[in-house]
This record gives sequence, structure tokens and C-alpha cells, in this order.
Amino acid sequence: MKDVSVIILAAGKGVRMKSGLPKVVHRVCGKEMVNHVVDNVKGLGASQTIVVVGYKADVVRDVLDKEIDTVCQEQQLGTGHAVMQAVPLISRQAKQVIVLYGDTPLVRTETLKRLIEHHSRGNYGMTILTVEMDNPEGYGRIIRDSTGNITSIVEHRDATSGQREIREVNSGIYCFEKQLLVEGLDNINSDNAQGEYYLTDVVEFLRSKGIIIGGCVYRDPQEVMGVNTKHQLSVVQKIMNRRNLDRLMEDGVIIEDPDSTYIGSSVSIGADSRILPGTHIEGNTRIGQDNLIGPGVRIRNCSIGSGNEIEFSVLRDSDIGNQCRIGPYAHIRPNSSLHNGIRIGNFVEVKNSDVREGSKVSHLSYIGDGDIGKDVNIGCGVVFVNYDGRTKHRTVIEDEAFVGCNVNLVAPVRIKRGAYVAAGSTITKDIEEYSLGIERGKQAEIKDWVRKKGLKK
Ligand code: UD1
Ligand code: CA
Repeated sequence: MKDVSVIILAAGKGVRMKSGLPKVVHRVCGKEMVNHVVDNVKGLGASQTIVVVGYKADVVRDVLDKEIDTVCQEQQLGTGHAVMQAVPLISRQAKQVIVLYGDTPLVRTETLKRLIEHHSRGNYGMTILTVEMDNPEGYGRIIRDSTGNITSIVEHRDATSGQREIREVNSGIYCFEKQLLVEGLDNINSDNAQGEYYLTDVVEFLRSKGIIIGGCVYRDPQEVMGVNTKHQLSVVQKIMNRRNLDRLMEDGVIIEDPDSTYIGSSVSIGADSRILPGTHIEGNTRIGQDNLIGPGVRIRNCSIGSGNEIEFSVLRDSDIGNQCRIGPYAHIRPNSSLHNGIRIGNFVEVKNSDVREGSKVSHLSYIGDGDIGKDVNIGCGVVFVNYDGRTKHRTVIEDEAFVGCNVNLVAPVRIKRGAYVAAGSTITKDIEEYSLGIERGKQAEIKDWVRKKGLKK
């Protein structure tokens, strides 16, 4: 759709959100509301998308893709005023302009296409996507004349009690003939309950000029729900989460309990992976097939292969290969890379470390800034002493080495291929290949000490 330009309004503060952040950067399933709208618009293949920013403009710009054009509405004087700021940027070739709001993240590309089709088919000067709502509180009401033509939109605040009875509302999604939009904006004022330039007032002006306004009545009120409060944010979050789960189940993922599973909008999961309750998968995470994940797992920005089992654990910004077993109660912190067939067991923390094929860290250990080779066995309670109070240092453990229980490895240090470290040692020097490193006080025994002390007869 090369002759279509899109304008997304995202300049408002969102007073009703009671938040220090601009409304449109609040996240729904891990993605900012405005980016949901931007992504849904992408499917139209429009020639340009302009986002109007204003309140904390830099915060909003920071979350947007760099190739998106933005324009700043210095003072937020209403939705009509916001669109006026974008008008000079609209490309010459554009014939139609779609306007929508950054606080309606559930709108689908298909719905926008349907609006454009309705607009073109009816040859309208402007077309509004409308919906019937059981509880239309807060929305602009669609006013139609006796022949059914739309004559104006009246905001809830400005509506008479009779008009408030109307259940057909403005979704805030419009398609305009460009020239008529420009002309309409030149002719609105701020004479209303909020003292703002309402975009919706363009309707009445165009109608007065004899232009026919199209109303594309849409069946699903949920999809066009605007988020004005934190309560509405939670409602939209739930719907979006369910949508994500449905999409994954359609692709063959098993989700045992959709009511207690939370999966972000940018997550992909392969077929026959089974996701158990209490699991959160967020950010840019890619998961392969045949994994068993959960219960109680949180994963953010990870790439995970297939055939892994992960339970009651937290994983962030890391790569996991295939056939690994992680948890319960493991913490995989950023920049870790666990290759294939790794075992990371109970109460093990791994950070900024590389663990090669077949190695095991089964219990109660801290692996920080380490490079662990293949088939290494790390006993219970091993600590990589990686920090000297100023700098972090690396610990290297080569293939097939064996580290006994309760060992401190004071970095920088290297345990070479096939070497053993005796339990209880604090290792400060490198250990050569196939050697034993041991650092312990000699065991002493005081004969009959207990009886002599009179502690037992
Ligand atoms: C608006 C519509 C209402 C519709 C509803 C649908 C108007 C006057 N009213 O009401 O008819 O039923 O959406 O959700 O258009 N914004 C700016 N600059 C401003 C003011 C707002 O960019 O000066 C942006 C906001 O960031 C927001 C969007 O426009 O993303 C909508 O503003 P909001 O205040 O939420 O409008 P509503 O009262 O919901
Ligand atoms: Ca709104």
C-alpha cells in the first residue's frame, strides 16, 4: 500500500495511568504498547509511519526502531493538534492517511486492512472503525442521523446523558483522504470540556461540507480496547498473553495451563516443547523442540536448543544447547553458554561462563567468569573466586578435569586437562595435566579427647 501513510499518536502523558513513564512505553507481554502498534502497522506495507511523540519524547523515541520517523508535539493540546504536527511530514505521494493511537496495542493488521478496504469500496472522504460496547464509558460516541450516516463524534465528557446511552463508539482508528484530513484539521477548535483540539471534531466539519463519512463496524470490542489506566493495562496484558499462547499451541507447543503461563510477544518455541505452569518466557527468546520447561521457570532473552529439561530456575541472556538438564533452583546469569548435554543442578549459579559438552555442576556451586571444558565434573559446593575487590578474573578448567567438593578456585587460575583437585582445597596456582592439586591442613587426632573432657562416659 504505497499510497498510504500512517500516523500513530503517542505524545500524551497518560494522566490516568498515574505513572512517571509516558503511557505508550508501558509494556504488554514484554513489548511497549507503541511498538505493538508499530509492528501491527508494518503488515500494511505503508510508505511511511510517523509517530507523534511529546511527553518525555526521548523516552518514547528510545524504544522505537531508528527508521521510524517521529515528530514532537511540544504541548499536548489534543489528538487533533497531535495529527497537525505530523501533517508536514506526510509524503507527497500519499493519498490516504491512517491515524491510530499508541495506546491500543491489540489491533491487528487484518483489521486495519479491512478498514482501508471499506474506505475504498465506499469511496468515503473519511472512514472510522467503530465498535459496539456494553460499557462504552470513556469512549467517543458515534452520532448517526436518521438515514444512518455518521454526523459527528461526541466525547464521553462532552456527551449529554441521552448521547451516553449510545453504545457504538469510536475505536480511534481512521482512514482519511489526505486532502480532507488537512482541510479538516484547519477547521477544528478547542471549544470543549477539555479545551483540546479533538481529532474527532474533523467528522462534524467534513459532514457539514457534504462529505460522506464511512463507519466500518467491527465485531470485536476487545481488539480496539484503549489503555488509559493500569487496570486496563492488566486486561490487555491478559488478552495478549492468551493470544501468544494460542499462536504457540497452533505451532505445536504443549501448554499445560494457559492461565498460569506467561509468554512474550517476541518469543518463538518449537513443536512438542512442553511448558508447565508458573513459567514466564520473555524478551527475545528462541526455544527449539521437545523441551520440558517448568514448572516455575523464568527465561529472558535466551536461545535454547532442543531436548532440554529445565525446572524451577531463572535464565537470562544466555545460550543453552541441546539435551541439558537445569535445576531445580539454578540461576543462569547473562553471557553464559551451556553447550550440549550439560547438567546444572540444585542451587548452582552460573555467570558469564562457557561450559562445554557433557560437563556437570550438580550441586550448590558458583561458576562465575569460568571456561569449563568437556566432560568436567565439578563437585558440590565449588566456588569460583572471581573477584579480588577490584577486578574480575577467569577460571579455566580444561577437558576431563575433576574438581572435588568444597573447593575454592582463586582466579586467575587454570586446572589443566584431566587434573584432579582434592576436596576442601583452596587453589591459587595452576595445576598441571593429570596431576592432583591438594591444599589442606594435615588431619590430627587426639586420642580419647571426648572422654577426657568428661563429655561422654
Ligand atoms: C480517544 C478519542 C475517543 C476514542 C478513544 C478510543 C479523541 C478526542 N478521542 O479518547 O473518541 O473513543 O480515543 O481509544 O480523539 N495524544 C497525543 N497528543 C495529545 C493527546 C493525546 O499524542 O495531545 C495521544 C495519546 O498519547 C494517546 C492517544 O493520543 O495514545 C489517545 O489519547 P487519549 O487521551 O487516550 O484519548 P481518549 O480519551 O482515550
Ligand atoms: Ca485512550
